[in-house]
Amino acid sequence: MKNYKNLDAFWMPFTPNRAFKENPRIVTRTEGVFCHTDDGRKILDATAGLWCVNAGHARPQIADAIAKQAHELDFTSPFNFGHDIGFEFAERLIQHTPDPLNKVFFANSGSEAVESALKIALAYQNSRGKSGKFKLIGREMAYHGVNFGGISVGGLTPNRKGFGPLLPVDHLPHTLDLENNAFSKGLPEAGLEKADALEELIKFHDASSIAAVIVEPISGAGGVILPPKGYLKRLREICTANDILLIFDEVITGWGRLGSAFAAVEFDVVPDMIVSAKGITNGIVPLGAVFVADHIHDTIMDNAAEGAIEFYHGYTYSANPVSCAAGLATLDIYEQEGLLTRAAGDIGEYWENALHSLKDIEQVVDIRNYGLIGAVQFKQPAGTTAPIGGKFQVACYDNDVMIRAMGNIIAFSPPLTINPEEIDQLIAAIRKTANELF
Ligand SMILES: Cc1ncc(COP(=O)(O)O)c(C=O)c1O
Repeated sequence: MKNYKNLDAFWMPFTPNRAFKENPRIVTRTEGVFCHTDDGRKILDATAGLWCVNAGHARPQIADAIAKQAHELDFTSPFNFGHDIGFEFAERLIQHTPDPLNKVFFANSGSEAVESALKIALAYQNSRGKSGKFKLIGREMAYHGVNFGGISVGGLTPNRKGFGPLLPVDHLPHTLDLENNAFSKGLPEAGLEKADALEELIKFHDASSIAAVIVEPISGAGGVILPPKGYLKRLREICTANDILLIFDEVITGWGRLGSAFAAVEFDVVPDMIVSAKGITNGIVPLGAVFVADHIHDTIMDNAAEGAIEFYHGYTYSANPVSCAAGLATLDIYEQEGLLTRAAGDIGEYWENALHSLKDIEQVVDIRNYGLIGAVQFKQPAGTTAPIGGKFQVACYDNDVMIRAMGNIIAFSPPLTINPEEIDQLIAAIRKTANELF
């Protein structure tokens, strides 16, 4: 039902607005792994929204919890007042985080959670008398949201350029290496030495000036870039040896995407903080969170003056009651349906084999996967500088699947509830689209 005159008023985020508005793709209803479109089609959502709806779309349990909460306790200030559901949700969340990440700071999005984590890192260094440790290390091709801290540590040039002087940061090299690792299944073998670049950066800046390193365990928006085997452990060792905090941005790798609650669990590497959002509420209402190690929290608490606010940071909607209700219902579903580990089982193996069956398409130069995440990379189309991804995404929509595109890469992160027939539908649509476009 269309209650608007045209598409002019809504300035769409990260979208070529003019092209979209000439050829709109409008979703009218969602259910399970499918979206219904305004032209009467039912299309497969191979992106889980935007790496969000891990338990599938329109789960009644979550919708009911939201409605009940809104009727009972809609909103109270999180500054100086509390409500039961915020404390209950924090306690439930930390049952899934690795020890000692037992404190939760709430935000409303991945971007805000990233900012919060960076500020916690600086507050921690300050409160233990190391205010000289203020630089941050990110990584090329990383996406940490769109706020100024996030784009500073982020490594995607279009998101950074034109936004003036950013924070004092430096960047690790990215780990994509088609020459040595193309068509790897799971974590690639080559490239562990890329972690040693951190030692070089530390030599250059000096450990006494560096507060924290932030990485996505698997880069999502940069094109699904996997860490070589042993890479994350090596980063952890270097950070520990140099008294530098390690932050994992798990906005997309969290909540079952890789076959464990978090990449930190999957790869057995415990960072000092984990950034979370998206799947934390199954994407239904906005919520972000930072899971913080006890010693960081306690240092900030213990060094503040008696009765003072210990950390000058927070959001009106930190621990919004309705968001917490959605999050609790989401955790119930994840736990009851075993979704946090489903990707590590047969479906993950089916996914891997299905994706790699596309290797025979001539323009495919790489296929990468882990858990229920995956990407196919194409050659740059001959005789043009425009990448193929955007065109491929639009053509896939016409072939009844929704995917993500970045440059010449198409990426997939289906709901964790997907079944083999639905995976087959995706693979057939990719092949059909490739036949039409190449
Ligand atoms: C790794 C990572 N960090 C941060 C963000 C930002 O999250 P949001 O769009 O909720 O601000 C994203 C979003 O895709 C992300 O993938």
